[in-house]
Amino acid sequence: MEIMTVSLNNVTYPIYLDYPLEKIGNLFHKHQCGKKVLIITDENVAKLYADTVIKSVSSVKNVHLSVVKPGESSKTIKVAYQLIKACSLFGMDRTDTIIALGGGVISDLAGFVSAIYLRGIRFISIPTTLLAQVDASVGGKTAINLPWGKNLVGVFHQPFFVVMDFSTLESLPEREISQGMAEIIKCAVIRSKKLFALLQNVPHTDTRKYFKFFVRECVSIKKRVVESDEKEEKGIREILNFGHTIGHAIEINSNLLNHGESVALGMLGETFLAVERNFCSYLLFEKVRALVKKYGLPVKCDVSVKKVSRSLMFDKKTRGGKIRCVMPVRIGAVKTGVEISTEEVISNWEKWQ
Ligand SMILES: NC(=O)c1ccc[n+]([C@@H]2O[C@H](COP(=O)([O-])OP(=O)(O)OC[C@H]3O[C@@H](n4cnc5c(N)ncnc54)[C@H](O)[C@@H]3O)[C@@H](O)[C@H]2O)c1
Ligand SMILES: [Zn+2]
Repeated sequence: MEIMTVSLNNVTYPIYLDYPLEKIGNLFHKHQCGKKVLIITDENVAKLYADTVIKSVSSVKNVHLSVVKPGESSKTIKVAYQLIKACSLFGMDRTDTIIALGGGVISDLAGFVSAIYLRGIRFISIPTTLLAQVDASVGGKTAINLPWGKNLVGVFHQPFFVVMDFSTLESLPEREISQGMAEIIKCAVIRSKKLFALLQNVPHTDTRKYFKFFVRECVSIKKRVVESDEKEEKGIREILNFGHTIGHAIEINSNLLNHGESVALGMLGETFLAVERNFCSYLLFEKVRALVKKYGLPVKCDVSVKKVSRSLMFDKKTRGGKIRCVMPVRIGAVKTGVEISTEEVISNWEKWQ
């Protein structure tokens, strides 16, 4: 077990890495968490891990379980309302705690509910997907979607603490592993030459052996970025959006592609635009594409570019009608706030696929 601490202006919280789920109850002795605990999870995760967490936590707290449908379709105001109702019916007060047990959908949704119920109660994040461990569970961004755009309603609300049990990754299907690998590739491109080289060299069959290392490296990068720009006001945190401008526009228009797959395509699209602007070399684009392919992510997109360009206008990062994205300069370094036009996206669409 290892503890990393995230130190922000008004709050400091620990991330317990490699901490067994069955011992989570012990952390409730250590941290003041009120009397009642609502565990929010989805149907898949409930079957696998809810009993373990309930058993451990109910030895010290009064526990209630709320289970939502798996997937992005649960990140809605309707589901958030049902969860708020569950908090209220359970009689939770401001001293009580919500546990988000699951992937990024659950941490975004449960985080959002805990941020707005009674103007904010504590939430503990227990990420069970690779993507949520390397990215979604750290940093305090919570959100739900609107039908025309991802994460358009949300609040910054930092977790009380985060617990990662790497053994939960063993039940994760390959496609979900690939999703997480997309965010790991993103971390490498924006901040870590060392991680990028490792991703290139690891034999594909051994990927799972390196999860602990990947998670530690990405959490440590994300922690440092969030510590220097908690609310994305200084242009530093923006680097984490690499691949996400075009990626979100793809994701919202696709019934087939998940977040990681869309971000992988977004990274390729945005890196290609960087090549066109002479910010980076074509070789760099080829290296990123090779990693995307190696980790089972798509390199071609069958979503219509017209739909993508329309959605780009609704992106959160769009300011004054200008679409903004992050572009790589070299491995480990990026340029933020680069303005792009829909025409530029459309005219280059075929070229990077
Ligand atoms: N807040 C942030 O900073 C941030 C960062 C990145 C992504 N996100 C959000 O995260 C979401 C994507 O996260 P995700 O990929 O974890 O999606 P997810 O939560 O939908 O999980 C993916 C699938 O894996 C299943 N699952 C979860 N854990 C499992 C396990 N241990 N074993 C077997 N199956 C398991 C889930 O039931 C689901 O079907 C998106 O909504 C994205 O916007 C948020
Ligand atoms: Zn992401």
